[in-house]
Amino acid sequence: EKSIVVLISGSGSNLQAIIDAIASGQINGRIAAVLSNKEGVFGLERAQKAGIPQIVISHKDFDDRESFDAAMMQSIDAHNPDLIVLAGFMRILTPEFVRHYQGRMFNIHPSLLPKYKGLHTHQRALEAGDKQHGCTVHFVTEELDGGPLAIQAPIDILATDCADSLQQRIHRSEHQIYPLAVEWFCADRLTLPVSGTVQLDGDNLPPEGYQFTQE
Ligand code: GAR
Repeated sequence: EKSIVVLISGSGSNLQAIIDAIASGQINGRIAAVLSNKEGVFGLERAQKAGIPQIVISHKDFDDRESFDAAMMQSIDAHNPDLIVLAGFMRILTPEFVRHYQGRMFNIHPSLLPKYKGLHTHQRALEAGDKQHGCTVHFVTEELDGGPLAIQAPIDILATDCADSLQQRIHRSEHQIYPLAVEWFCADRLTLPVSGTVQLDGDNLPPEGYQFTQE
């Protein structure tokens, strides 16, 4: 059973999807702790309800990113996690932090990466007139929203869509692909070898309609 630490900054609906997938037996793992850089966010309540230890480390209590990240690392490593899951964690991480968890840290991003790194992805996809949008789980590397892709879920953009409606549908997709990537990792089926290429071991395929991407 793998030990997971989840980092959040907000509502934690992706955290909830992973909690549920552990409860249902889909994921062979346990969440050792949930860390938030913001007090009072709903994701912390979700952790509490699930009986998961909560850690709050506010970035505002630190002078710079280096000391904030060092404090997080110390607190995370006390739990000896096999996997770090960024689930709506909205702080940019230092190269030291990223290197420390190389090959064992996932992020989820609301776009079809490498398109639309950064913020306001739904608005940008609409303004570009894209026919499709989506979400991506990827291994975290030093490049912001870069890193080898683990799984992507595309959705069609409808003529009636606005940023809010896209966000809602993307969220639903996220809640399916994030538990799936975590499931694979916990089963030792998804690894980032030193060469930087994602490998999916075995004959498992994403659910119908999902696109599995190897970089
Ligand atoms: C998710 O949509 C995730 O893709 C996005 O934040 C949301 C968190 O929702 N992440 C980013 O934008 C990262 N740059 P949640 O707190 O309900 O899981």
